[in-house]
Amino acid sequence: MFLIKKNRKIFLHNSNFYEKFLRVYRWNPNLKKDPWFSIYPILLNSCGPMVLDVLIQVKNDQDSSLTFRRSCREGICGSCSMNINGSNTLACLEPLNKSSKFLTIYPLPHMYIIKDLVPDLSNFYNQYKLIKPWLLNSSSSKTNEFLQSKSDRIRLDGLYECILCACCSSSCPSYWWNQEKYLGPAILLQAYRWIMDSRDLHTKARLQFLNHKMRLFRCHTIMNCSKTCPKSLNPGKAISSIKRQIFKNL
Ligand code: SF4
Ligand code: SF4
Ligand code: FES
Repeated sequence: MFLIKKNRKIFLHNSNFYEKFLRVYRWNPNLKKDPWFSIYPILLNSCGPMVLDVLIQVKNDQDSSLTFRRSCREGICGSCSMNINGSNTLACLEPLNKSSKFLTIYPLPHMYIIKDLVPDLSNFYNQYKLIKPWLLNSSSSKTNEFLQSKSDRIRLDGLYECILCACCSSSCPSYWWNQEKYLGPAILLQAYRWIMDSRDLHTKARLQFLNHKMRLFRCHTIMNCSKTCPKSLNPGKAISSIKRQIFKNL
């Protein structure tokens, strides 16, 4: 591990050889100390092109205690969300910017931290459960299939692709200050996905649940959420559409 304070000599001695350094937030609940930064040299020639490759290289070769989540490494599982050089995104989709000297990584902002880059997403997933993210259709179909026309299916584009990475919710000022009560952009986009599904028969009940000053109307259309989504989705627009549906149908 290359801590600047402890290894100042080694760090300076090698600084011409290493073109780039990883500066990463650390916190371990088992150590009785405040959070700190660790700095590691990045071996550009032997490292893959993405930020997640850097983290894996550092964990494998320099400091096995560095803790972060990852699984698919192709933008599908949503595990590797973190704040990279000031923006929430997925480490596996973020190319390593070779022009700047430091790559700075924090965990997702305004979340409780379990360790290093691992946020506690319990509240986020509990909120996901609240919107009943499954098909509500009690019709007595003889088969297990609920068919949908192509045009109805297309209405789900831009919604079903959400991977619940929480980049948008943790970039939203309204969610920062009210995350116990406000559902946040990710969960609201997911709620809208079920409202828009032609096979679902509980649209009105879903809208009634969302028609609440804290659950939905804490959104002030700041649009940080849509700017940061690594899947190029637009949760801010989905929230506006829910509001329109409420005014139209309730
Ligand atoms: S809307 Fe985008 S940023 Fe938000 S959880 Fe879904 S994929 Fe992640
Ligand atoms: S548009 Fe709404 S949900 Fe998105 S960042 Fe702004 S307040 Fe949060
Ligand atoms: S590792 Fe799965 S989204 Fe990054």
